[in-house]
Amino acid sequence: MQMHPDVNKILFTEDEIKAHVARLGAAIDRDFAGEDVIIVTVLRGAAIFSADLARAIKTVPVEMDYMAISSYGASTKSSGVVNIQKDLSSPITGRNVIVAEDILDSGLTLSYVLENLAAREPKSLTFMPLFIKKGVQKVHIDVDYPALEIPNEFVVGYGLDYAEKYRNLPYLAVLDPKVYSK
Ligand code: IMP
Ligand code: MG
Repeated sequence: MQMHPDVNKILFTEDEIKAHVARLGAAIDRDFAGEDVIIVTVLRGAAIFSADLARAIKTVPVEMDYMAISSYGASTKSSGVVNIQKDLSSPITGRNVIVAEDILDSGLTLSYVLENLAAREPKSLTFMPLFIKKGVQKVHIDVDYPALEIPNEFVVGYGLDYAEKYRNLPYLAVLDPKVYSK
């Protein structure tokens, strides 16, 4: 496969991600049979994942809604200080909400978002990250569905950026440290 010159290792190929997203979609069809769901996408990183996840759900009715938050701090580390820049368009009270996230890293940003959504009293609140950095979480977050595990390295692709670049890469790769050290 042709790799972008700024990445040095592919952790998950396009096909591997596709197969995993298909399993997640099938799990939603199974677990929410007879109900409907709202996929909440936390912009911008999760946009690619949620678009594919929605299409992997074959029978359960799906609505999609979006939220934008900003977290402050250095560009390769999360600070957990977040600000809602764009809120959901529709109420989620009494609804089955699935929060599609690109990656669970420290969990600081996400715990804030989940608390905020839980306060709106959805019928159910499911957190679904596609990728998880093993063992680096600073807060406990229940993950109900398996996520693809990666080592504690800065990764890009499949929605994940460095300085807003590389989101379009169809695979998940480790960014070459020379890119952010210069
Ligand atoms: P957390 O609050 O540390 O769990 O991470 C918050 C957000 O930081 C994630 O949703 C990603 O958008 C971003 N992020 C965390 N780790 C990486 C990475 O390795 N590459 C690119 N973005 C990341
Ligand atoms: Mg980012």
